[in-house]
Parts: sequence; C-alpha cells; structure tokens
Amino acid sequence: MEKEGKIIKIAGPLVVATNMEGAKIFEVVKVSEKKLIGEIISLKENVAFIQVYEETTGIACGEPVFKTNESLLVELGPGLLGSIYDGIQRPLNLIEKMVGAFIERGIEIPSLNREKIWHFKPLLKEGEEIESGDILGVVDEEGFEHRILVPPFVKKGLLKMIKPEGDYNIEEIIAKVETKEGEVNLKMYQKWPVRQKRPVKKELVPDELLVTGQRVIDSLFPIMKGGTACVPGPFGAGKTVIQHQLAKWVDADVIVFVGCGERGNEMADVLIEFSKLKDPKTKRLLLKRSVLVANTSNMPVAAREASIYTGITIAEYFRDMGYNVALIADSTSRWAEALREISGRMEEMPGEEGYPTYLPSRIASFYERAGKMICLGKDNRIGSVSIIGAVSPPGGDFSEPVTQSTLRVTKVFWALDDALANKRHFPAINWLISYSLYKERVEEFLREKVSPEFPELIKLAQKFLQEEAKLQEIVTLIGAESLSEKDKLILEIAKSVREDFLIQNAFDEVDTFSSLKKQYLMLKAIFAFERKARELIERGLKLKEIEGLERLKEKIARLKYLPEENLNELEEVIKEIETYQHV
Ligand SMILES: Nc1ncnc2c1ncn2[C@@H]1O[C@H](COP(=O)(O)OP(=O)(O)OP(=O)(O)O)[C@@H](O)[C@H]1O
Ligand SMILES: [Mg+2]
Repeated sequence: MEKEGKIIKIAGPLVVATNMEGAKIFEVVKVSEKKLIGEIISLKENVAFIQVYEETTGIACGEPVFKTNESLLVELGPGLLGSIYDGIQRPLNLIEKMVGAFIERGIEIPSLNREKIWHFKPLLKEGEEIESGDILGVVDEEGFEHRILVPPFVKKGLLKMIKPEGDYNIEEIIAKVETKEGEVNLKMYQKWPVRQKRPVKKELVPDELLVTGQRVIDSLFPIMKGGTACVPGPFGAGKTVIQHQLAKWVDADVIVFVGCGERGNEMADVLIEFSKLKDPKTKRLLLKRSVLVANTSNMPVAAREASIYTGITIAEYFRDMGYNVALIADSTSRWAEALREISGRMEEMPGEEGYPTYLPSRIASFYERAGKMICLGKDNRIGSVSIIGAVSPPGGDFSEPVTQSTLRVTKVFWALDDALANKRHFPAINWLISYSLYKERVEEFLREKVSPEFPELIKLAQKFLQEEAKLQEIVTLIGAESLSEKDKLILEIAKSVREDFLIQNAFDEVDTFSSLKKQYLMLKAIFAFERKARELIERGLKLKEIEGLERLKEKIARLKYLPEENLNELEEVIKEIETYQHV
C-alpha cells in the first residue's frame, strides 16, 4: 500500500500535508479517516497543499492523507442529461434521498447510475478500423441521440468485438479494440480529467447565430454558436433572469447550467421550471436537454472552484458528439472569490484586489474552451460550445479585476445597468456601452436566413438610439419644446425602439421569446412608422396633431404580445402603416 501523508495544517478548505513524496499536482487525495475529497493544488518538496471539497471541521493535524494516483475526473456517458450535480459531479438528488438535504462528508456515489439499463444500437462492425471520436453506437435518451464515442485515448485500432443491439448498463463492456498498446475494453461511459481540454481535430471560426429569442441580444448584441459572452451587472440588475432565459430558450442541443455560489432557491427554481417547460424545437422537457451543476452559496467553497471545470468538461463531451452546447455560468465572480480565498489561505502573493496573480490566465483558459470545432472521428462532425458567464462586480464597478479579465477574452459584452433596472427596463442591457464583436458576421447570417433588410433595420435602430442620447443632452439644457419636429420624431422613434422592442418581459408567456422573424417584423413596423411620420412632417404637419398616427403607435406597442402563430397579423399592421393616408 502507498505510504500515507500526514496533515500538518488546516485552514478552512485548505489542508497542508507532509510525507507526500511521489504525489502529483492536481492529484485527488482522500483527507483523514473521513475520506474527504481533496485535490493537490501546490507541491513544495514533500509538502502538499490540498483544497478540500468538503467541510474540514473536526479534522485534526496528524490525521492521514491517502493518495489516489488519479486526477479530478468526471464520468461522461448516458444518464448525464437531466442530472443535477455538485461541483465535483456528485449527483445531488440521489444524495438528498440517501442522507437528507445535506451532503454527508466522504460519501462516494457514482456520478452515473450503474444499474440503469440503456438500449444500445451499434453503428460499427467487428473488423473495422477505428479511431478516436468514431461513433461506436447510439443510445436513445428519451428522444436525444446519445452517441457513444471511441474515447480520445484510443488513437487507432481494430474493432475486435462490439455488442449487438440490446439492453446494457454502463458497466458492461460493449466493445473491444486491438491497439498497438494492447487490447482495450470500452464501456458506454468514459472518464476525463476536468482540468484538461478535450481534444478536437480543428477549431473553426464561429459563423452561425446562437438564437436566444431575446430581442436586445439577437438583434443588437448577438452571440454565435461557439462564441463567448460576459454579462456583468450590479446587484439585482437581472443577471440571473437573463441566464435563466438563455438556458430556457437558446437554440442549442444541450445546456450545461453552472450555478456557482448563488442562492440555492434560484437553482431550485431552474429545476422546477425545467421539469415543466418543453423545448420548442424538439418538444422534449427542458430538463432532458440540460445538465445542472450546482454549487450554491451554502456549499463548500473549494468545490465551487471545481464546478466550472466540471461543467465545461461535460459541455465538451456533448460537443464531441457533434452537438451545439451552451454553457451558462452564474456567477463566475463567486468562482473567482473561491480562487481568492484558497490563494489567501496558501499565503500566495496577492494581485489586484487580493485576487491571485494568475486570475486572468485562469479566466482566459476557461473561455478558451469555447469554440466551433471539427470533432475527433472519421466523419468530421461539427460541434460547438458557447460560454455565457455572469459576473457580479461589487458595487457594479466594471473596472474590477474579474470583469476586466473576462472582457479581455470574451467577444460579447452585455452591460447590465442599475439605472435601467430601476426604471424597470428589462433586460437592463445598456445599449450604448454593450457590444458584440460578431456583429458583422451575424449580418450575413441574418440577411440570408431572415431577410436582406434585417441588418439595415438593426443599424437604423442603433442609429436612433445614439441620436437620442445626443438629443437628450440638448433637451436637458434647453427643454424638449424647442426641438424641431424632426428631432421630436427621432426621440419618439428611439422611445419606441426602447419600449416596444428592447424591453422584453421574461415572465410574460408570449413576450418571453421572440423568433428572429418576429424581431425583424417588429423593427420593420417601427421604421415603416418612422418613414410615414417623416413624410407627414415634411408636408408641414405636427406629430402630436395626427390622431391616426397615435392609433398606429398603440398597435406597435402591442406587437410584442402577438403569439408566434399570428405573425401574419404583424405583417398586416405593417401594411396598415405603409398605406396610411392622412386626410
Ligand atoms: N427580463 C426581465 N423581465 C422582467 N423582470 C426582470 C427581468 N430581468 C430582471 N427582472 C427583475 O429583476 C429582479 C432581479 O433580477 P435578478 O435576480 O436576475 O438579478 P441579479 O443581477 O441576478 O441579482 P443578484 O446580484 O442578487 O444575483 C428579478 O427578480 C425580476 O423581478
Ligand atoms: Mg443573481
């Protein structure tokens, strides 16, 4: 048996042990006789610094530390979808059933159910040459095609045996491969070290819009499949609601939701909603296309550090099957705080605001795992992982280190604004400072998939919002009355863009989601109105005096509540505006 280490210091989630010769960095260890799970995060000769994923109270110096020779691994296979895990992939619902609401320390439960039977359908035949990423067969997971892949460590080989179509549990050997290094047995699941990127063949440039159904996002600040976005916002500005909206409506095949250091009841809300709502595309329950990783504020802080790696590894696994995956993390600030706490306990030299100096590189290496990829395997499947991370800067100050380091690596910035939230303008995304570096590429996509006019309408909307900001300065100086009729129209239209288009109520059954077509038609209506009103002004009329226009304006305000099935009514409103005659 391996020699045991000995605890010499305990500082909250950090345990220091000596006699750790032969241990490796990022090796998983079991701490004390209670077998608490920990990971070595630093080694100095035979002294190991261990972050422990469970409460360390009651542990004493002199107690043993057991090496495992393994990294922190996640299990990847059938059964992931619909699961809710803690930061180190222990199934939460199962644990609750076994030991009540709290996770007992040192408890070992497999991440994937070993007994559950899955119906496996082979796609390859004995005698075939295979390589990493090839699809051995598929399992139907309540309507989701779970592709069982040749794992990355099997580079090339000859398929010696594959099980016929039938019912198996995940421990059953379903295939044998002859490789240069010898024979390898494959099961329906594989393990992967969370801190390591899963390999791909090639990274591509994202070129497809990730449709979210949120108008301000899709039209003004879009994200692409394989892209990255950062949502910073002060307390109560709507970060969580946006993250939940995306988790519900985004057109990805799989959603991985990481609840990091946030309130437990918010995670419970997600669960309850997901078990009721259906994916509009596939009609499957949202829960069945999602994996939840929850490390809420009442759970041990170190597991929070691990939770985003657990989440991203699961996301990459589904990407490898050739799916579009969205990883949504709320909030990465809590993750960074966990990093800061552990670093402080290790008495490392602090960087900005007490965060470790390696904070920026850690954040970058997380977002770098997003992308649109050609996956391993002979068929050159394409898959993507998009990452959307919320950031909670203290006091809403975007110049703090977590926000800044995140903005340096993400391509989309949705800046949530206190002032807008206070005015109940939701989503409170500030249109003057937010940006998307995908904008140009998305234009092509929208032109082709929705309408050649759509990008032009979006540009108009942004132009009016910018002009409004300029005019408002004048208005504060000399009052609105002194504005020309033309400028008044600009303000009127900008207001319509804000109130009738950008504001979107997450809790209204219809307004909660707008298809791209609806977004396009809504803008088209607003700018048909603008053209008509401008013509009338040019004829010398005053805006306020035209009653017919007021009526049309009211119609525009109601467009957001038109169900997707009735978009023809929206087109009728546009026609009515275009053919309006003032007499
Ligand atoms: N799109 C929306 N539609 C309607 N109401 C919204 C919307 N977004 C936010 N709200 C309102 O704002 C409240 C606060 O939002 P949320 O909990 O998402 O903020 P947060 O930024 O996550 O806050 P915290 O900093 O506490 O985590 C919500 O409870 C809701 O009432
Ligand atoms: Mg929140």
